[in-house]
Amino acid sequence: MAKILTLHGPNLNLLGEREPEHYGNLTLEEINKKLGILAMDAEHELETLQSNAENVLVERIHTALADGIDFMLINPAAFTHTSIALRDAISATKIPFIEIHLSNIYSREKFRQTSYFSDLALGVISGFGLLSYEMAMTAAIIHLNDSKVIE
Ligand code: DQA
Repeated sequence: MAKILTLHGPNLNLLGEREPEHYGNLTLEEINKKLGILAMDAEHELETLQSNAENVLVERIHTALADGIDFMLINPAAFTHTSIALRDAISATKIPFIEIHLSNIYSREKFRQTSYFSDLALGVISGFGLLSYEMAMTAAIIHLNDSKVIE
């Protein structure tokens, strides 16, 4: 059994009512529930955390190693485009992770087309709404079960 940590960045607590044309109609709770089922079916443990505060996310990443987190799924939201602090925290732990976006950040405003995380990530999934998270969880499970599949 592996421990998977899913981190959601700022404003993702508003999913369901926030710009549904970009982010869909599901709430964060519904997304977390679906991820929990996928993780449980694969006999892995899932912890989720959403925060609007950079320091809360940075500090959770700091404690992830000691907590035995094996893999992270991260939607850094707006911090994707701004947060060297979050990038450095992830870089320090070296815990493998997948970067997720509900919307296709490359088809939107120019400022969204830069990510401080993509080059560190095992992979990036962007543009598929809930399916972005589900595909990332599936890839994480495959990686955890056989790390040769994704290197
Ligand atoms: C997002 C894309 C970001 O540019 C934006 O700031 C978000 C959500 C996404 O999931 O599509 O808050 O990460």
